[in-house]
Amino acid sequence: MADRILSPAEDADDVRFDRLFRPNSLDEYIGQARHKENLKVFVQAARGRNEPLDHILFCGPPGLGKTTLAYILAREMGTTLHTTSGPAVEHKGALAGLLTKLEPHDVLFIDEIHRLTPAVEESLYPAIESFRIDIMTGDGPYATTIQLPLKPFTLVGATTRTGLLTAPLLSRFGYVARLDFYPVEDLMLIVERSARLLDVKIDASGAREIAGRSRGTPRVANRLLRRVRDFADVLGHKVITESIARTTADRLDVDSAGLDEMDRRLLLVIIDHYDGGPVGVETIAAALAEPRDTIEDVYEPFLLQQGFLGRTPRGRVATRKAYEHLGKKGKEPRQGDLFS
Ligand SMILES: Nc1ncnc2c1ncn2[C@@H]1O[C@H](COP(=O)(O)OP(=O)(O)OP(=O)(O)O)[C@@H](O)[C@H]1O
Ligand SMILES: [Mg+2]
Repeated sequence: MADRILSPAEDADDVRFDRLFRPNSLDEYIGQARHKENLKVFVQAARGRNEPLDHILFCGPPGLGKTTLAYILAREMGTTLHTTSGPAVEHKGALAGLLTKLEPHDVLFIDEIHRLTPAVEESLYPAIESFRIDIMTGDGPYATTIQLPLKPFTLVGATTRTGLLTAPLLSRFGYVARLDFYPVEDLMLIVERSARLLDVKIDASGAREIAGRSRGTPRVANRLLRRVRDFADVLGHKVITESIARTTADRLDVDSAGLDEMDRRLLLVIIDHYDGGPVGVETIAAALAEPRDTIEDVYEPFLLQQGFLGRTPRGRVATRKAYEHLGKKGKEPRQGDLFS
């Protein structure tokens, strides 16, 4: 997966460039207009009242800007961001350690928040509801609970799997922002901005070509731009154009719809081995030798959003668009197969 140019998941090279590419304010942040405008209002209101920002959850596929928004919110609030992740908070004590370090209005960012253990999650409830934690001391009949007050803070959660969040946790966020894949126009602006930061020249058609092949994902767009820059440098091109972008994408096996080999294999498994589906996600995962989670979090969302893949109660189906894109002779969709 690591060498998959289109993988929305973060790799070491992304981390290296993250600091350079990360927008520092909501104004600099491109796209997701509705959420951006809402967040601006929340920040302004909280600052005006001298209160912490209400707790916020960001959901959506990898690479769409959840972590970026958490950074921006802390910055806009003029406070400090403390970062951790669901699996990293191993027990209640670790959570208490994090919470008691927070200063007023600080932001605690918990990535992969759906992976908190039930015990840790439960001890998070009083913290986010009334800024206190309950600590048990003593044993058996002598056990008592001490309530420890916390400074008012903001919890920002991020998850790729909203479906895995428990209802009590979900209900405690004041605002839930579901991030969408970015339209090509927004990705073009992101590519042009990143090119400026890398100090490389790119024309509009070059930016559009990269944007169109980036799976609706800023992380992928930035990565593809870096690879196109490599080709442009080595081939002696001063400006990134459509043709050099296309050459690069072709060499990396990214097709005109922005699908890579893995996307196409997923669709081909359904078409060639299961007559277009429906086929269960477990079966697809086994055929591709990838964990089910990866199929659901990383590959499927874009294919579903673009209409290459359909979801039915009996499993996944390849749509007519998938047949056409892959040059396969389509079967007639059976009644009730699609999106039922
Ligand atoms: N709206 C945007 N404008 C400009 N750059 C963006 C935008 N959104 C994301 N990026 C850039 O894309 C990259 C990936 O974003 P980020 O790390 O925030 O994604 P994420 O949703 O947290 O992903 P993951 O689920 O893998 O943690 C970063 O380098 C970030 O700077
Ligand atoms: Mg992230």
